[in-house]
Order: sequence, then structure tokens, then C-alpha cells
Amino acid sequence: MIIGLTYDLRDEYLKMGFSEDETAEFDREDTISFIENTLAELGYETDRIGHIRNLVSRLARGDRWDLVFNIAEGMYGAGREAQVPALLDAYRIPYVFSGPLVLALTLNKALTKIIVKESGVATPDHAVVYKLDDIRKVDLPYPLFVKPLAEGTGKGIDPESVISGPEQLEKKCAELLNRYQQPVLVETYLSGREFTAGIVGTAEEAKCIGVIEIILKENAEKGVYSYVNKEECEERIIYSLTDQEAVDACAALALKAWKSLHAEDGGRVDIRFDQEGNPCFLEINPLAGMHPEHSDLPILAGLHGIAYRDLMRMIMDSAVTKVHKEVYV
Ligand SMILES: Nc1ncnc2c1ncn2[C@@H]1O[C@H](COP(=O)(O)OP(=O)(O)O)[C@@H](O)[C@H]1O
Ligand SMILES: [Mg+2]
Repeated sequence: MIIGLTYDLRDEYLKMGFSEDETAEFDREDTISFIENTLAELGYETDRIGHIRNLVSRLARGDRWDLVFNIAEGMYGAGREAQVPALLDAYRIPYVFSGPLVLALTLNKALTKIIVKESGVATPDHAVVYKLDDIRKVDLPYPLFVKPLAEGTGKGIDPESVISGPEQLEKKCAELLNRYQQPVLVETYLSGREFTAGIVGTAEEAKCIGVIEIILKENAEKGVYSYVNKEECEERIIYSLTDQEAVDACAALALKAWKSLHAEDGGRVDIRFDQEGNPCFLEINPLAGMHPEHSDLPILAGLHGIAYRDLMRMIMDSAVTKVHKEVYV
């Protein structure tokens, strides 16, 4: 079985002149090698494709694959993560992970919250600031938390994302609107413990493979799993197994969110407790990082005794079942 690999390589974009921040969500060369080598160990033949423009020219040349392992995040547009799977759908080439509907929706954290809330998943109240004037319409109790509407990897998130009053709200929203050229999501601040849950599988086959607590060390930026804390996670973060009560509550919430969104094959759900200790949905990551030592999903799998190769096998088994299935949405 020939597996094409689609991804956005950070170094390639840095060489093109994009900044560290613009390329923060993209993958390192070693992540691609780890995926490639592991797929080979699992008995698959692999073929590196790369970013969407390479995919376009390869498709135009007539190249085809039995399945594509897609972790391309995309560069432009509100549907940037959805572009590769949408193109593959047009050519009827199956792929690993979710399709364009889920990837476009979940890139927008506000719309995703509305859908999961409708399915009975708790998530903090929110408002969306499209332009600075919109802060007048924000009718939520302080403290608040602000973040870019459609980013990942902690981009735009630091201790100042926790907002204690209107002046600070205006300042931070202006800064984020300007820096990221996209709306700002304003949410009630959750002050409790933080977790992330790993999910593998699709629909009724989906299961939670583990929940870990994200614990900030003394030298971490305070109160948030920020960009800096994520980048320097080896020094600043403890990824910890945790008590069964928290695990059960987070696993149930994560699976409910995963199924309500019809996410596929594997990913993560980020969760934080409110002041009373109730778990709340923060966001879903249907294209979770896949670096064996640096990414949360492989880290949490490892802490639950699931080696990287076994995690990859589980994800591939879920995806391969789709190859002969006609799935229409
Ligand atoms: N409403 C909130 N209350 C408290 N902390 C939050 C809230 N939203 C986000 N955070 C903090 O910011 C981090 C990153 O937010 P998240 O939405 O998961 O963005 P990313 O896509 O960058 O991971 C979370 O892991 C958490 O520490
Ligand atoms: Mg997150």
C-alpha cells in the first residue's frame, strides 16, 4: 500500500522568508522522518509529497496514492487546514485524519464551541471580537481569557491573555487583531487544573487512549499553557498521569466532543476545570502534533504504555478501514 505524506515543513517556509510566528504550527523535518520510518516499519511504502502546491503538481502529473497521511496545516484562509483533504476528496484519494468539514470548522474555535455545546459539552461562555469596537458588546464577567480565533500551538497566548478589566481587554484585543489579522475569541477564564485527552478512532469506534494533566513547573510562564511553555515543554512542563476521577470526567467529555464533531482517526481534546472543578472543553485538535517526544498526543500515549509505533498503527488501522468505504457527507 503506497502512502503519500502531505505536510508543511517549517524550514521550507522559513527559507521562503516567512517568520517564526507564521510557521509555528508547521512541522520539523524529524517529525516527517519519524512518521515515514514508522509507516515503513508497519509495512507501508511511503512517498513524500509535502505542501499543497506540491500536491497540486503531483496530481496534475498523474501521480496517485492508495492513502495519504495528511498533517498539512495550510498557510492561507479560514479553511487552510481543510484544503488538502478537500483536494484529495475531489480525486477520490482517501486520507488519514478528518475531512474538510471538520478541519475547517475546528480551526474556528468559536463555531466549534457552539456545536459541542449544542451536544451537551460544557465550554466557557464566549464572545467574538471582529473589530475593536466589538469589545463594547462583550457582556461576560471578569477575569476573561483572550486568544486568536483560529491558531494553535499557543500562538498569541501568554500570561497577559488573562484579562482582569476593560482597559486590558481593549489593549490585548487591539494587539491580537493587529498581529494575527483575524478575530479574537474572548472567553470566561477557567482557573482550574488543565488536561489533554487523546482519542483514536472514528465514530462508534472512537476511544480515549489516555488523559494527562498539564502541570506548569516553577520556571514556566504562569497560569497558561502558552506558546513559550509549549516550545520549551521539556524544561517547563510536567506531563503527568492523574487521578481516576479527573481521567473519567475528561475522557467522557473528550469522547462526547469528538463524536459530536465527527472527527476521524485520531487527535486530542484540550480541557480545563472551572473554579468548581467541572471539566470544560477548550478546543479540539484533529491534526494533533505527531513528534514522538515533543507533541502532546505521542507523549500522552507513551505515558499510557502505548509506544509511538503502536499509536501510529492504531491511527492507520482506523484510516485504512475508510479506504474501501464510500463516505459521503
Ligand atoms: N478560557 C480559558 N481559560 C483559561 N485558560 C485558557 C482558556 N483558553 C485557553 N486557555 C489556556 O491557553 C492554552 C492554549 O489554548 P488553546 O485554545 O488550547 O489554544 P492552542 O490551539 O494554541 O493550543 C490552553 O492550553 C490553556 O492553558
Ligand atoms: Mg490547545
